[in-house]
Amino acid sequence: MRRPRHISTVIEPFRIKSVEPIRMTTPEEREELIRAASYNVFLLDARHVLLDFLTDSGTGAMSAAQWAGIMRGDESYAGSDSYYRFRDAVCDITRFEHVIPTHQGRAAERILFTTVCRPGDVIPNNTHFDTTRANIEFTGATALDLPCAEGADLSAPGPFKGNIDLEALERVLADDSQRVPLGMITVTNNSGGGQPVSMANIRAASDLCRAHSVPFYLDACRFAENAYFIQQREEGWADTPLIDIARAMFACADGATMSAKKDGMANIGGFLATNDAALAQQERDLLILTEGFPTYGGLAGRDLEAVAVGLYEALDLDYQKYRIASTAYLGDHIAAAGVPIVQPPGGHAIYIDAAAFCPHLDPLDYPGISLCVELYREAGIRAVEIGSVMFGADDPDSGERRPARNELVRLAIPRRVYTQSHIDYAVEAILNVYERRDEMRGYEITREPPFLRHFTCEFALV
Ligand code: F0G
Repeated sequence: MRRPRHISTVIEPFRIKSVEPIRMTTPEEREELIRAASYNVFLLDARHVLLDFLTDSGTGAMSAAQWAGIMRGDESYAGSDSYYRFRDAVCDITRFEHVIPTHQGRAAERILFTTVCRPGDVIPNNTHFDTTRANIEFTGATALDLPCAEGADLSAPGPFKGNIDLEALERVLADDSQRVPLGMITVTNNSGGGQPVSMANIRAASDLCRAHSVPFYLDACRFAENAYFIQQREEGWADTPLIDIARAMFACADGATMSAKKDGMANIGGFLATNDAALAQQERDLLILTEGFPTYGGLAGRDLEAVAVGLYEALDLDYQKYRIASTAYLGDHIAAAGVPIVQPPGGHAIYIDAAAFCPHLDPLDYPGISLCVELYREAGIRAVEIGSVMFGADDPDSGERRPARNELVRLAIPRRVYTQSHIDYAVEAILNVYERRDEMRGYEITREPPFLRHFTCEFALV
């Protein structure tokens, strides 16, 4: 028999059973809508957005098996069957002994850090996500980012630019490990461009922490995407199934925080896991105070079912192949036309370097905001600024505005939601804006709240 020839096109490994209409708007309508939103895309109504790349968190499409799980949800207050199915799935993949459900990732973070952190403590990480940082700082501890040096060069390629700087971690531990209640690695490194972390780096960080008797944790939001990158890029893992790579990652850790809104493939949910029975008891006591009884932790039974099924679906090889290929497709097509992006393309998102996109704008003209506005105007696309509006700070002494390290615009891809033609449309729109980038103008902030200003602040054209 003749073997079929190889087909290189990577397809969506699913059929679409249920559809949700998206509505086109005219350029005139978008002009009016973005002005009414004070040029802040967070203030747009979702129904006025055509392709929503604001986040990959909780925005994915569930599978038929997950919807079947939803119908099976056991809504008993205590000890529901759904909890046991959830716990068994998490334990099977992570091998942690104690699993505490939470309504999303930041609830797991709040419970963990209020339990282990004291004022003056330090929590090192490759790069903390903003809610992780905020929950650490809320306890009076310091959230310390230790990204590897390769990560700082946005345009340089590299297989594992999400790695932690091991020498810097060692210095922190050697300096005073008493002040480090735990060390952490975030997979993939979201704030660092969606870049993966190698197994070697996870193992070495874990060894360093354990040598100083410091527990080691994973922020596991995108653990399955990270496992796929390890399989594809790290020597020795090419033939290992994703679930075994995930188990090997978790085997390095003493615990994990998880937002199931990412690689749990669910619209809500998360968990906190540990092997420390005494710590788990303290965490459950705190959970009851704000989240709920330890067998539902702020979720409905049906949500627990969706996560129990979704965690395995994220580890399906065909799914990851499609997932990572579709993100890279967007990145590679715009980069080929000259658009500056963080290289190589990340797992869940493409990050455009807005400062390099608009070299004529000063960082404090907020080029990322200008690009987000233009993408909406051009094509109804919603992206998010990760630059000086989100991370810029005022000098505490002079009050002078200080820009952030980078001016990025993130296009995060929801899971199983958009098809290749949606991505082709986005590519065309981005290239149209790129062609007329010289005309792009800066913005100034006209109103801002004291915290997390990027969500609600208002802008005007300079
Ligand atoms: N850790 C990482 C690495 C994240 O990316 C997020 C959320 C969280 C923790 C918090 O989880 O939202 O369930 O409370 N990231 C989303 C994003 C919001 O758009 O990147 P959560």
